Amino acid sequence: MDATITHAIPRIGESTIDAEHDLQMQLLDSLARSIEESGDFGPVRHILEQFIEFSDMHFLSEQLVMRLHRYPAYEPHLQAHTRLMKKVREIQEAVVQAEKAPSLELIHELRNWLLDHIATEDVAFGEYLKTREHLPK
Ligand SMILES: [Fe+2]
Ligand SMILES: [Fe+2]
Repeated sequence: MDATITHAIPRIGESTIDAEHDLQMQLLDSLARSIEESGDFGPVRHILEQFIEFSDMHFLSEQLVMRLHRYPAYEPHLQAHTRLMKKVREIQEAVVQAEKAPSLELIHELRNWLLDHIATEDVAFGEYLKTREHLPK
């Protein structure tokens, strides 16, 4: 399976958020590669921690921009972020407990979920932002 899919990441049209999506996907690509190549617990755990820290930061900053622009779909979007982080933390706990890398399938599932979220909910927010470009903040 091709571990590099960064070209397929949908753009929402806001450069900071788009760059953060690239980095999120790159971290998941690194994670998948690390599992494929060695599956060593140490590096896998480290990349997973980086992904969690970065995703927490990205989701918080995305939510902040939503609140600044009074985005009407803020609540369901927040819930989607919370669900993803819960799933990622469950994976992390299992990894730490078993001292074993997660399965590639699990990482691909995570990546598909994230891509789908960007393509639908984040793109919808990008469309909303475009309608507010000329309004006072
Ligand atoms: Fe989002
Ligand atoms: Fe996002």
